[in-house]
Amino acid sequence: MTSRKPLPGELDAIETASRDEISALQLERLKWSVRHTYDNVESYRKKCLEKGVHPDDLKTLSDLGKFPFMTKLDLRDNYPFGLFAVPRNKIARLHASSGTTGKSVVVGYTQNDLNNWADVVARSIRAAGGRAGDMVHVAYGYGMFTGGLGAHYGVERLGCCAVPMSGGQTEKQVQQIMDFKPEIIMVTPSYSLVIAEEFERLGIKPDEISLKVGIFGAEPWGEGMRSEIERKLGIDAIDIYGLTEVMGPGVACECIETKDGPVIWEDHFYPEIIDPETGEVLPDGSEGELVFTSLTKEAFPVIRYRTRDLTRLLPPTSRSFRRIGKITGRSDDMLIIRGVNVFPTQIEEQILRDKRLAGNYQVVVTRDGHMDNLEVRCEVQRELSGKLPQSEIQQISKELQHRIKTIIGVSTKITVMEFDAIPRTQVGKAKRVLDERPKRD
Ligand code: DLL
Repeated sequence: MTSRKPLPGELDAIETASRDEISALQLERLKWSVRHTYDNVESYRKKCLEKGVHPDDLKTLSDLGKFPFMTKLDLRDNYPFGLFAVPRNKIARLHASSGTTGKSVVVGYTQNDLNNWADVVARSIRAAGGRAGDMVHVAYGYGMFTGGLGAHYGVERLGCCAVPMSGGQTEKQVQQIMDFKPEIIMVTPSYSLVIAEEFERLGIKPDEISLKVGIFGAEPWGEGMRSEIERKLGIDAIDIYGLTEVMGPGVACECIETKDGPVIWEDHFYPEIIDPETGEVLPDGSEGELVFTSLTKEAFPVIRYRTRDLTRLLPPTSRSFRRIGKITGRSDDMLIIRGVNVFPTQIEEQILRDKRLAGNYQVVVTRDGHMDNLEVRCEVQRELSGKLPQSEIQQISKELQHRIKTIIGVSTKITVMEFDAIPRTQVGKAKRVLDERPKRD
C-alpha cells in the first residue's frame, strides 16, 4: 500500500542533501544554539562554567561531547520559566508534560519556533505519504499536551484539512471518519485499535473506511502492533516520534516508502547516543540513551537533553538524515499509559494526600488486548489496619481514583489493602512498578 511515495521535487532540498552539507549546516546552527543558550539561560551558563567549557570551544560537531547535559531535573528546578532564553513577551505559546513529581514541565515557543515546528510536522506528514488537499483526522489530545496542536499546525502547513477531533468519544470518532472520509489519521497506536474495534463492532470492513495512512506515536509500539493496525484499518501505519522538551511530535518520522524507523529531522535536532551510566558518547548503531540538542529553537533551547529513551542511531535510507530504531525502553521509571506519561512519584503524591493511607504502594501495569491498565495498590496506616469499615475503604479508593484521574490524567483501579500487605524491599530501591505487560517485539 505504498502508492503515496514522494514525487521528485516534493521534498525540502536538505532532506536529500549530502552528509557534508548537512554537517556544515548543523555545525553553524549548533554554534548559534549553544551560544544563545549560554548567553540567555543562567543555569546552563553556570553548568558550563563548572565544567570549564565555553561556546568558543565548539569547533567541530564532536566538540559537543564536552558540554554538560540537561535533564528533566533542570526543568523541575527551573519551573516554570527559568530555562526560557527569550523574554516572556516573546513567548507565543506554552505546552507542558509530566514531570518526575507533581509539577509538570513547562516549555515555551516563539512565533519562529512555532513556524519551524509546523514545518517539521508538515515534513513528517509528507514523509508518511500525506499530500496537500488530504483531510487529516487528528485524534491526539488538544491542550497542554503537544500532540493535538503540534499535529494540527503541521496539517495546515502542508495544505491539508485538519479535523481537530482530539481524543475520546470513540463512537463519534468513528461516525465522523465515516461521514467526512479523511485520508489520514493521527492518533496514539493504542487508541487507533480502540477505534478499529469500534469499526469492527459496527460491522464496517477495512475497505469501507476512507483512511489510507495513520501516523502514530507518543508511546512505544512494535512491528506486531503495526501489522495489526494496518490489517484492521486497511492503512499504512507510520511511526512519528517526539517529546515536549525538544519540541513535541515531529522530531522524527518514518517514511512510507521504507517504514524502517523514524528519520530524525537533523537540520533542527542534533542527536547523540550515550551510555546512560557513564554519559560517554557511543558510536552510531550502539544501543544507548538518546540525547538531543536543538539547533534552531529560540524560546526553549535544549543542549544535550537526556530523553531517557533507549534506542540506536541508524544510517540514512530514504532521506539523507539518520534514523532512530524502535524505542526499546526508558532509563527512568516513567510509564506511558495510553499515551499519558506517568511517574510513580506522582501517584505516590496523590496517595499521601490521604492521611489514612501509608507510604508503601505498588503500581501494577497489565495489558488487556491492546490497552494498558494501571492498578494502584496501597495500604492503610498501621493504626487503622483492620479497623476501617468496608464503606470507608471504598470511599478512600473512589477519592484516590478521582484525584489520579483529574490530576495525572489516567484511569486506574485502586486496591486498598491492610497495612503490611505489600511486600517490602529488603535490599536496594523499593520496587514500585510491576510491569506485567508482554514485551513489544
Ligand atoms: O508524546 C509527543 C508526541 C505526540 C509524539 C504525538 C508523537 C506523537 P511527551 O508527552 O513529552 O511528548 O512524551 C515523550 O513519549 O520521550 C518517548 O518515551 C515517548 N514517545 C513519543 N513518541 C514515541 C514513539 C509526546 N513514536 C515521550 N515511539 C518520549 C515510542 C514514543 N515512544
